[in-house]
Amino acid sequence: MKIAVAGKGGSGKTTTCAVLARTLARSGQTTLALDCDSNPNLGISLGIGEDATEHLISVRDAVDAGDEEHALTADDLVERFGVDAPDGVRLAVVSAIQNPEPGCPCCGISPEQLLGQLARPGRVVVADFEAGLGTVMRLDANPIDVVLVVVEPTAKSLEAGRRVAESVQKTGVGRVVVAANRMRDDEDGARVRTAFPGLEVVPVPDDPAIMDAERRGVAPLDAAPNAPGVRALVDLADQLLSRR
Ligand SMILES: Nc1ncnc2c1ncn2[C@@H]1O[C@H](COP(=O)(O)OP(=O)(O)OP(=O)(O)O)[C@@H](O)[C@H]1O
Ligand SMILES: [Mg+2]
Repeated sequence: MKIAVAGKGGSGKTTTCAVLARTLARSGQTTLALDCDSNPNLGISLGIGEDATEHLISVRDAVDAGDEEHALTADDLVERFGVDAPDGVRLAVVSAIQNPEPGCPCCGISPEQLLGQLARPGRVVVADFEAGLGTVMRLDANPIDVVLVVVEPTAKSLEAGRRVAESVQKTGVGRVVVAANRMRDDEDGARVRTAFPGLEVVPVPDDPAIMDAERRGVAPLDAAPNAPGVRALVDLADQLLSRR
């Protein structure tokens, strides 16, 4: 199963991706989390800490600088640029580097191609996409199961999310599910549902516990497992699993 988490910058993609990946792993799925962001910080939200997250980035930078060997295959990439995260999630940083070698499995192929190469029966791959439309637009030759579009109830976030959803629907590359993040009241919910008619919209409340975990550099799932926002993301993961 392949899941991409997409949306506008700052909408909550990384937070969502992390809770999703760990919940899927807790349900017994072999789970690979791919950090596709050029500012990779999924490690922090997954709970490996700031130092380990920084280390993964430095390995990737070393490849870019020519100080570190390139990975030979996509699986080698997961081994070399990856780390074990809580609940058995494997995290790998696959963000773009400045001087990619075309065709190289570790730097010369795109995240959406990697998603395809790393998917196999019995494994769930969850990818934290770079903000915006770019990666999603290139999904057309690389169909996936679910594109989770994370939006906040603001005009700009909804517009960005609408464009992502439209692109996925136009090419038919996967099912779109909308995570309506940081919901404060019914009006917020109505605003999101109006922006995405006919699409599955899952509300996630605005939750200070999530922001607090972020401030401390720890995983929301560890810091506040019963906070309403975290619970909603856990339920979303369960929903994706049961409806696949
Ligand atoms: N439901 C929520 N309630 C409160 N705060 C939230 C919620 N979801 C996310 N946040 C906070 O919003 C900020 C952005 O979240 P996150 O880093 O997950 O977004 P992102 O889409 O990955 O951002 P970027 O585009 O920069 O990668 C973080 O400080 C996070 O703690
Ligand atoms: Mg992010």
